[in-house]
Amino acid sequence: MKLKRDWPVDSVIAGHDFAGVIQQLGLDVPSESRQIGQRVAGFLNGCTSPENGGTFAEYCVADAMLLVDIPDDMSFESASTLGLAAFTACQVLWQFQKLPTPVDVAKDPFPILVWGGASAVGQFVIQLAKQSGLQVITTASPQNHELLRKLGADTVFDYRDPKVISNIKTFCGDKQLHVAIDCVSVDESVSLVTQCIEDCEDSYIALVLPVKVKKKYIRSDFTDAYTLLGKPIEGKYAYPAIPEHFEFGKWCAALLSRLAKNNTLSVTPIRVVPNGLADAQYWIDYQEEGKLRAQKIVYCTSSS
Ligand SMILES: NC(=O)c1ccc[n+]([C@@H]2O[C@H](COP(=O)([O-])OP(=O)(O)OC[C@H]3O[C@@H](n4cnc5c(N)ncnc54)[C@H](OP(=O)(O)O)[C@@H]3O)[C@@H](O)[C@H]2O)c1
Repeated sequence: MKLKRDWPVDSVIAGHDFAGVIQQLGLDVPSESRQIGQRVAGFLNGCTSPENGGTFAEYCVADAMLLVDIPDDMSFESASTLGLAAFTACQVLWQFQKLPTPVDVAKDPFPILVWGGASAVGQFVIQLAKQSGLQVITTASPQNHELLRKLGADTVFDYRDPKVISNIKTFCGDKQLHVAIDCVSVDESVSLVTQCIEDCEDSYIALVLPVKVKKKYIRSDFTDAYTLLGKPIEGKYAYPAIPEHFEFGKWCAALLSRLAKNNTLSVTPIRVVPNGLADAQYWIDYQEEGKLRAQKIVYCTSSS
């Protein structure tokens, strides 16, 4: 599937997330790791080059080590949300920080701020942080508060409320807030997040876009989920292939598979759109106009 703009050449395929059935295995895939017929989900660095491929297609080529197993009782439509956003959530939590994980839970719970909790990334960050034993503070529009509480948020504040910073500080009380995940990562969100956390060397913000943090002491990192695919990235956010990132990506795939199997990972609410990929451009524009709230658009192809 080709779309109208931004893609560098005609043979580039758009689309990042996928869910489907393994049809063929590469010759280098160990036979004990994957079998034809398994139901799997994941993500690709779509829209970039013919080699990287894309998922707006009937078939796609993915790394066998980075697949998430789809539980028997989960639909392909729901499972298609277990790709880019879920891996990004793992990355912002654990790639550059030694935060507790669901397999190494916090012994002494501390607060974490998840800004933009209703985003697809944010919904996974909330769940993963909660299952790691942290106290989760998040922000969202009021209509999404209940959803985020169900996902595990301890409290939710409206990010448009002029008192949002003082509300968050009051909630934290004596517990200082040192860690934040900014799932929006624009100047405005970063400015608000930095006012909520302590300006000291123990403080850290994980970013999903490369925006500048204008505070003296707070550390920050921008993580790019495509680095988990273990290949060099060209273009705007160029990055060499880093074996440690690929290893971490494999760890994320195994963790997400296990949590999904144990039924402890809720997928993002979905909107399966009519006409499948034929209207993909319309729905991409819809998302870029900010109309998509707390949901993922899902396209079904004829073979799914
Ligand atoms: N670094 C990476 O590898 C990577 C990977 C995936 C995505 N991303 C980036 O991460 C961001 C989130 O992506 P996504 O797909 O998760 O987004 P999304 O699902 O499209 O996010 C939509 C949600 O964002 C919330 N939101 C919008 N502006 C906000 C603000 N100023 N403050 C708080 N919440 C706000 C809205 O919440 P309410 O409805 O509650 O208002 C809305 O429901 C995007 O910029 C995307 O490009 C980066």
